[in-house]
Amino acid sequence: MLRSALLCAALGLLRAQPLTCPPACKCVFRDAAQCTGSSVARIAELGLPVNLTHILLFQMGRGTLQNHSFSGMTVLQRLMLSDSHISAIAPGTFDDLIKLKTLRLSRNKITHLPGALLDKTVLLEQLFLDRNELKDIDQNMFQKLVNLQELFLNQNQLAFLPARLFTNLGNLRVLDLSRNNLTHLPRGLFGAQAKLEKLVLHSNQLVSLDSGLLSSLRALVELQLDRNRIRSIAPGAFDRLRSLSSLTLSRNRLEFLPPALFLYSHNLTFLTLFENPLEELPEVLFGELAGLQELWLNCTRLRTLPAAAFRNLSGLRAFGATLSPRLSALPEDAFRGLGELQVLALHSNSLAALPGGLLRGLGGLRRVSLSHNRLRALPRALFRNLGSLEGVRLEHNLLETLPGDVFADLPRLAEVLLGHNPWRCDCDLGPFLAWLRRHPGLVGRAEPPRCRGPGPRAGLPLWALPDDDPECRGARGPPPRSAAAPAAPGHTASVPDSSEPRAPAQLVADGSRQDRSLFWGLYFLLLAAQAVITGVIVFAMIKLGGLFRKLIRERESERAFV
Ligand SMILES: *[C@@H]1O[C@H](CO)[C@@H](O)[C@H](O)[C@H]1NC(C)=O
Ligand SMILES: *[C@@H]1O[C@H](CO)[C@@H](O)[C@H](O)[C@H]1NC(C)=O
Ligand SMILES: *[C@@H]1O[C@H](CO)[C@@H](O)[C@H](O)[C@H]1NC(C)=O
Ligand SMILES: *[C@@H]1O[C@H](CO)[C@@H](O)[C@H](O)[C@H]1NC(C)=O
Ligand SMILES: *[C@@H]1O[C@H](CO)[C@@H](O)[C@H](O)[C@H]1NC(C)=O
Ligand SMILES: *[C@@H]1O[C@H](CO)[C@@H](O)[C@H](O)[C@H]1NC(C)=O
Repeated sequence: MLRSALLCAALGLLRAQPLTCPPACKCVFRDAAQCTGSSVARIAELGLPVNLTHILLFQMGRGTLQNHSFSGMTVLQRLMLSDSHISAIAPGTFDDLIKLKTLRLSRNKITHLPGALLDKTVLLEQLFLDRNELKDIDQNMFQKLVNLQELFLNQNQLAFLPARLFTNLGNLRVLDLSRNNLTHLPRGLFGAQAKLEKLVLHSNQLVSLDSGLLSSLRALVELQLDRNRIRSIAPGAFDRLRSLSSLTLSRNRLEFLPPALFLYSHNLTFLTLFENPLEELPEVLFGELAGLQELWLNCTRLRTLPAAAFRNLSGLRAFGATLSPRLSALPEDAFRGLGELQVLALHSNSLAALPGGLLRGLGGLRRVSLSHNRLRALPRALFRNLGSLEGVRLEHNLLETLPGDVFADLPRLAEVLLGHNPWRCDCDLGPFLAWLRRHPGLVGRAEPPRCRGPGPRAGLPLWALPDDDPECRGARGPPPRSAAAPAAPGHTASVPDSSEPRAPAQLVADGSRQDRSLFWGLYFLLLAAQAVITGVIVFAMIKLGGLFRKLIRERESERAFV
């Protein structure tokens, strides 16, 4: 705004003629004056020439704007009166400003505007009333402003808007109502805004988005509804907004979204839904929507994601479902169709297991974050055919062991974070340790993975374990768990698409644990048996000893008798 003002002023300079500049002002350019410091109430006394086209007044002292402040200024085009302490404006103050195009009254302390204040400024194109203390607005306030293109009412205390407030603003392009106290928007409020391109409503207290409210906004490109208290959105609320490209719905109270809510939003390139207590997503939510590159679903109450819910988001580069403590399971085809996906964030949830085919088809994937979950095992084939994969985060899970080939054939892999897992450093970990040794530097060392056990190994970083563990020599070669036939390496590697990868994956983990407990059980049984036998032998010896002693004594007494 200031720039355009200066530009116009600069053009004025071409016809340069010295202006008699009031003492409190600077008149750098002809037809433009910039004044500061004086009182709002005494603007008339500044003696501003009536033929100015631009006036910039700021940091003026407290007071009421008097109705003769700008009298006779019929050629004034831009009036900026911001950062002052205007508390009220007298009726008629702007009546002479019939050529006014821009009026800026931002950052004052205005609580109320007289109803007919702007009735004469019919050429007005931009009106800034932001950062004041407006509590209400007369329903006829803007009725004559048929040329208005931009209206800023943000950062006031508006709790309510009359339904007819914008009826005559058929040329409005930008409307900012953010940071007010609006709880409801009356039906028909935006009925005349067929040219509106940007509607800003964030940071209010809206509780719902009712049907029909937005249906006239055919030209709307940007809609900001974040930071409200929206609980419900009428089905089809966005169906008519065919030009909509940016929509923010984050930080509301949405628990459910109506099915097919974005089915016709083909032009969306930016959408936020995060920080809503979403319980569930509908099976069909998005229509073809190739322009959307990011979708974040953090801080929800989702327990799972619908199968193939994002299939129509063919251009998605980054997807995140994070910080959702109830998210404990994902369907195998949750991410089907996301061939362009590069970043997948699934950290800080409660995922306990993953289906083996979860990442299938995500050939462009570069980073996967699974940290801060409850993963006990990983399907052996999880990372198969991810030729672009560069980073995997698995720290803060419940991993005890990993298959030796879980990160095999990932040519671009550069970082794997494995810290803060209860690694069980026994012979089963051997194949994975072998991989680890062959790829030094890949596993993050800042928070190194450490053994939870057994016994003396607790606390050791994985790479501090003996290279050729004497205890495990017998166990080398094919890992002992090869009993779990469906997960045998050759099989899963060649058929990573087996329809039930989750079951075998769990089998691998549970199976090996069962094997081991059986082993320990037998071991202890053997020890106990040995102890019992020893006890019996000792007892028998003692008894036998006693018997012998008795026998000898009897013999002696017999001999004595004889
Ligand atoms: C504006 O009025 C002053 C006298 O008050 C005069 O000197 C100047 O030429 C006028 N400028 C225009 C553009 O008419
Ligand atoms: C300005 O206000 C005074 C009273 O406060 C009134 O007499 C006068 O008619 C008003 N002038 C205009 C232009 O409205
Ligand atoms: C608007 O909301 C703010 C903060 O929520 C509150 O302090 C203020 O009193 C409200 N104003 C009105 C007019 O309701
Ligand atoms: C969608 O966006 C493209 C490019 O931004 C634009 O050319 C097209 O007109 C838009 N479609 C609609 C229905 O507005
Ligand atoms: C994808 O979009 C089409 C319409 O464009 C729709 O019929 C289909 O149900 C959508 N699929 C999903 C999984 O949302
Ligand atoms: C949720 O994700 C968005 C987008 O990445 C981010 O701006 C926001 O800070 C996140 N919220 C939390 C609580 O991390």
